[in-house]
Amino acid sequence: MAWAPDDERGWPGHVELLDQTRLPHETVVLRLSDVLEIRDAIRRLAVRGAPVIGITAAFGLVAGVQAHTGSAAAFAARLAHVDERLRTSRPTAVNLGWALDRCRAAITGCREPGSAVDRLLAEAHAIRAEDEAACAAMGRHALPLLRSGGCYLTHCNTGRLVAAGIGTAFGVFVSGQHAGLDLTVYAGEVRPLLQGSRLTAFELRERGIPGYLLPDGAAGALLQSGRIEGVFVGADRIAANGDTANKIGTYAIAELARAGGVPFHVVAPTSTIDPTLSDGSLIPIEQRPADEVLTFRGTSVGPDGFAVWNPAFDVTPARLISGIVTERGIARAPFGPALASHLSS
Ligand code: MRU
Repeated sequence: MAWAPDDERGWPGHVELLDQTRLPHETVVLRLSDVLEIRDAIRRLAVRGAPVIGITAAFGLVAGVQAHTGSAAAFAARLAHVDERLRTSRPTAVNLGWALDRCRAAITGCREPGSAVDRLLAEAHAIRAEDEAACAAMGRHALPLLRSGGCYLTHCNTGRLVAAGIGTAFGVFVSGQHAGLDLTVYAGEVRPLLQGSRLTAFELRERGIPGYLLPDGAAGALLQSGRIEGVFVGADRIAANGDTANKIGTYAIAELARAGGVPFHVVAPTSTIDPTLSDGSLIPIEQRPADEVLTFRGTSVGPDGFAVWNPAFDVTPARLISGIVTERGIARAPFGPALASHLSS
């Protein structure tokens, strides 16, 4: 994800996104400056994964307001409109609202629309740069959790496609690789949108990290086999008590990891922690359209019109989590005070 300025002042410009729905077989770059197109790209998962959704929203705010610098009142109205369009594009990843709040806070008291756009753009760049640094720091903190020769399981896609840097959970494997560790990564395929097979397997191959792809239903047998030494997953929203929303299927893996005595770690920047929600029952869970389950690439794979339950995320209770790795270190139970201290340091 990149911001492409169209003039030397840095704006007007547009966001450039690698369309993740076309990977791994096609490389299509989207160039978007229209807020409805950016919202649509987030909704249909052309850009996806909590950190990069936040970064895209931050630059999307700039894209949406940059041409509306006439009067302060018109600018404020446009800002509210664009904010609402982006904020409601997906409900679970808290990084989206977090990034928009942070950008808006950066222009508090700014009365001149032109300088407000400059400040919004600077804030979006800062969010992006901080995310890149956070990825590297999380990778460093998690290194002691790895062993050369070890096999690890991950779920969904958490690499460089979803962040400004090496990624969150996937970034841990990259940092292990950079440290010379010999790792094997098992990746679930992640029905129905196949973020695991289309994106994680693709990134593993690109990085030269040995791995296996497994059907989601094989995770239990794999964890039972004793082959896996640790599970690393990302997060879309972490409640104040450590309960963690992540891609559907994560909770089942966490229960199975507990049953098999396998450590289960969440890796996410502090921007994914939502201190306003006391526990995971309050996290909004996105329901996705039925046709994602009833069809595959346009081919029907179920009875037309059959009822579908298609939550995009589930919530793993904090009691199943061995540690939460953020850019500030590894939070351990009790997660409430540990996460609060990560947020305040
Ligand atoms: O629906 P998606 O593909 O956006 O879901 C993404 C995930 O669940 C990721 O695991 C999560 O955002 C962490 S990405 C660093």
